[in-house]
Amino acid sequence: RSTVWKLSTNSGELDNVLGGGLESQSVTEFAGVFGSGKTQIMHQSCVNLQRPDCIFFDESAVSDEELAAPKAVYIDTEGTFRPERIMQMAEHAGIEGQTILDNTFVARAYNSDMQMLFAEKIEDLINDGNNIKLVVIDSLTSTFRNEYTGRGKLAERQQKLGRHMATLNKLADLFNCVVLVTNQVSAKPDAFFGMAEQAIGGHIVGHAATFRFFVRKGKGDKRVAKLYDSPHLPDSEAIFRITEKGIQD
Ligand code: GTP
Ligand code: MG
Repeated sequence: RSTVWKLSTNSGELDNVLGGGLESQSVTEFAGVFGSGKTQIMHQSCVNLQRPDCIFFDESAVSDEELAAPKAVYIDTEGTFRPERIMQMAEHAGIEGQTILDNTFVARAYNSDMQMLFAEKIEDLINDGNNIKLVVIDSLTSTFRNEYTGRGKLAERQQKLGRHMATLNKLADLFNCVVLVTNQVSAKPDAFFGMAEQAIGGHIVGHAATFRFFVRKGKGDKRVAKLYDSPHLPDSEAIFRITEKGIQD
């Protein structure tokens, strides 16, 4: 079994909160309201996967081949993948944007069945010789939320989401991948705080994600990412910015 490696978010603060970067063999969730920057973090991760200076690993434990020519799969359920934004981020990082696009498989999922199927097919891509090291699901819950409405459908929705999360965790473990998912939030009445934000998907998503973030908007281009409920790391916050260049401190 390979040792974990880490992928930089491009924000030193955010990397610090994560104990060095986005971790392989785990599912990391970014939840937040619209415009909080979830999709930007997903784009930046695809860019950084192609930058050797953004990949951190113990050279005595991870072989060179393991992280050679890494590729990403981006399952886009909302039609918000933007090649031109990838190009822009790449240009500012001093690398060829086309290289990023050539090494990122983008799959547009119009419903939850497609989303689940694409995730299940990633293993075939790997067996065909593609060194998939990053899997992005943007967004994890929007299709499920649209299709399974009302209390009567909740059990079925949760059961399918659970299966989907199991697929993602298996990929992360078996192939030493970084898996990132975005999620929406809903406001729930809370006895102490009035209204509290909650990530969609309840315990099914909560237990399947190792690292969970709430991202919220700050002043101007500032964003705040709060890590919570992590088994190994303390709850803490990172401030980052979204600029022309991408994600930054
Ligand atoms: P939803 O998917 O709607 O829930 O939102 P999200 O959390 O995915 O937000 P997203 O990552 O799309 O962030 C959108 C924000 O990122 C915008 O409001 C801008 O502040 C910023 N942003 C997006 N593209 C650019 C860009 O090309 N340049 C700059 N400077 N900022 C950008
Ligand atoms: Mg988005």
